[in-house]
Amino acid sequence: MKVDVLLGLQWGDEGKGKVVDVLSPGYDIIARFQGGPNAGHTLEFEGQKYVLRSIPSGIFQDGKLNVIGNGVVLDPALFKEEVDALEASGHDLTDRLLISKKAHLILPTHRLLDAAYERKKGNGKIGTTGKGIGPAYTDKISRNGLRVGDIFHSFSEKYNAAIARHRGLLQQMDYEYDLESLEQQWFAGLDCIKRFRVIDSDYFINKSLDEGKSILAEGAQGTMLDIDFGSYPFVTSSNTVCAGACTGLGIPPVKIGNVYGIFKAYCTRVGSGPFPTELMDETGEQIRNNGFEYGSVTGRPRRCGWIDLVALRYAIMINGVTRLIMMKSDVMDDFDVIKACTAYKIHGVETTEFPFETEANPEPVYVELPGWKSDMTKIHDKREFPKEFSDYAAFLEKMLKVKIGIVSVGPDRAQTILLDSLR
Ligand code: IMP
Ligand code: MG
Repeated sequence: MKVDVLLGLQWGDEGKGKVVDVLSPGYDIIARFQGGPNAGHTLEFEGQKYVLRSIPSGIFQDGKLNVIGNGVVLDPALFKEEVDALEASGHDLTDRLLISKKAHLILPTHRLLDAAYERKKGNGKIGTTGKGIGPAYTDKISRNGLRVGDIFHSFSEKYNAAIARHRGLLQQMDYEYDLESLEQQWFAGLDCIKRFRVIDSDYFINKSLDEGKSILAEGAQGTMLDIDFGSYPFVTSSNTVCAGACTGLGIPPVKIGNVYGIFKAYCTRVGSGPFPTELMDETGEQIRNNGFEYGSVTGRPRRCGWIDLVALRYAIMINGVTRLIMMKSDVMDDFDVIKACTAYKIHGVETTEFPFETEANPEPVYVELPGWKSDMTKIHDKREFPKEFSDYAAFLEKMLKVKIGIVSVGPDRAQTILLDSLR
């Protein structure tokens, strides 16, 4: 068997949580491979809305195993909040959630350091989610990190040494803080982690493949936030691309199967950094209102703009996308005209490649397509699509050279339309 990978092609918030939830009945195991509680995967069904941060979005399907892989950074305090909320709503996780020994822990001081570094950057700030993601991955790479497996072996010595080092860094930045209450929640979270099976996830994943089990790897954030390929330095601190599933779960590249690339019918971004098709006018406001584009973790209004096919083609190339999945199509229901950016003009020269220089201020070159001006949210079958929508989808397929497998026309599980087979 091979591992299918599902990931975001834009700047995150493409709707990955919903798609994993819809696809997970076809898989035995759902695994997260990178990121941490900076993610906010929103799922809606049976009139209920849930936001997942570190727990894979397969958790709502009975009989599925969910794995938090080695590439993830886990905050015990936020993990416990998530577990408590799920259990309060009647979902028993005990035997269905497995955690990698090799996943790194986000310490309470990582959150403080995240805030301190952002303050120090001033106007150049990244606009992080403030969850300690960057500092936790920094410690991983600089070989100072603590891993989930460490909880069981003389943990307090390692913990105290790390905290002492972090205190020194915070002092250097004159950052004032109250660690005590954060630590209380954090240690309660550590006890919560101990309730679950902490495993050698690399062996578990590969043995499961050998036994013929099917696995879906669930990405977080999006390709344009990837540490190597995103709009650096305005990115997150992990590899959000397909290759991240190999390093974040221990899967050989030859065992990657289908790659599902998720994108919205338009584009959004939270935090700072380049966004060539951003709309600062009423049209941007209209997209934000229609799509309810506010951060599910931070509540920040998301920046909104037209779909960017230059960035999408780049993301498809880096990930080897085999099928596209288009989300939030209904958000464009009331537009007379829909624009799609097919190239950039940089210093008067047209290009179809995403530029290295983020300061270059690329000017988008647009193609205009007629809107469908009708309610897509009640559609159940592709034969009911308005002609203008079918034309829009066909245009995207032609430009992106990959077929669209699924179109989503609303937040609910039920509002999902299959266009083409996924394989
Ligand atoms: P960090 O991941 O918290 O360090 O934030 C780095 C950048 O990635 C910021 O611009 C965040 O807004 C953005 N970001 C991080 N996680 C997500 C996400 O799940 N969705 C959208 N943007 C995200
Ligand atoms: Mg999100």
